[in-house]
Amino acid sequence: MDERILDEHEHDNEASLELSLRPTKLHQYIGQDALKSNLSVFIEAARMREEALDHVILHGPPGLGKTTLANIIAAEMNVNIKTTSGPAVERAGDLAAILSSLEPGDVLFIDEIHRLPRFVEEILYSAMEDFFIDVVIGQGDEARSIRIDLPPFTLVGATTRFGSLSAPLRDRFGVQLRLQYYDLDSLKLIIERTADIFEVAIPENSLNELAKRSRGTPRIANRLLRRVRDFSMVKGEEAITLETTNYALKVLEVDPEGLEPIDHKIMRTIIGTYGGGPVGLETVAVSIGEEVVTLNDVYEPYLIQRGFLERTPRGRKATAKSFEYFKNIDMN
Ligand code: ADE
Repeated sequence: MDERILDEHEHDNEASLELSLRPTKLHQYIGQDALKSNLSVFIEAARMREEALDHVILHGPPGLGKTTLANIIAAEMNVNIKTTSGPAVERAGDLAAILSSLEPGDVLFIDEIHRLPRFVEEILYSAMEDFFIDVVIGQGDEARSIRIDLPPFTLVGATTRFGSLSAPLRDRFGVQLRLQYYDLDSLKLIIERTADIFEVAIPENSLNELAKRSRGTPRIANRLLRRVRDFSMVKGEEAITLETTNYALKVLEVDPEGLEPIDHKIMRTIIGTYGGGPVGLETVAVSIGEEVVTLNDVYEPYLIQRGFLERTPRGRKATAKSFEYFKNIDMN
């Protein structure tokens, strides 16, 4: 089978480092407490019945740990996991090949599942519901359909866009879990855990500062920690000082709220060019030269969560807090 289809993860250093930082069991996974306690019940019950876990959809902003959770689910169920992603599955045959390689109880993880082509998605319906697929073999007059039975398996889907899943697909996930941005305490624990793995000392004040500027997102927290650690190491520090933390974050252009130049560009466009809005998403996207989808899924959710931006029926609007904040802060 084409390896590209099964695993399109990058294999550069940071990506594999990220993998080694990931918790492998649910009890090591920090935060998302409500989600974790529900999930542990569903896993335990499926194990008691010796059945495959019901299909799970994980949704929420990027970097919050959807892939990590998919791997944890497989580990906790004691089964294999096969990983692919929506855009990697281009043909119906790709999906049929993956599905027919599954063993009973296995997890099939499809990242960015909202990007599956529709005709591929439709194959999933019978696979999820009744564990079979109809595969068309041959072409034209010769074409015929054969039925392939599948073992019971668990589909774990991840998406940043729950709303753009079709209803038939969405409704076939018995377990629907939404990941939230992490609170400060959870982020601090995650950074501490990573620092421990790196064998680097980080005092409370630096820890606090890093957590505050990580946008509620473990992936960002771990990335910032890596960079701050570089500065600290080159300076010959024994522990990462607050001074170095602040210096590093400044040169990395991460502001006190964790906002980066692109966030500033977005808010300055809405405030400066469009008088605070409301202004259409497409207009903002064109003005700053970003794709609508990236703006909508990656940048806006945190700005909204922190109370800088509002989505209204007439478009995006800057809040009073936003006017105040961007009036006083100097970053392009
Ligand atoms: N690393 C990234 N996300 C994590 C989490 N939620 N718990 C523990 N370590 C993590």
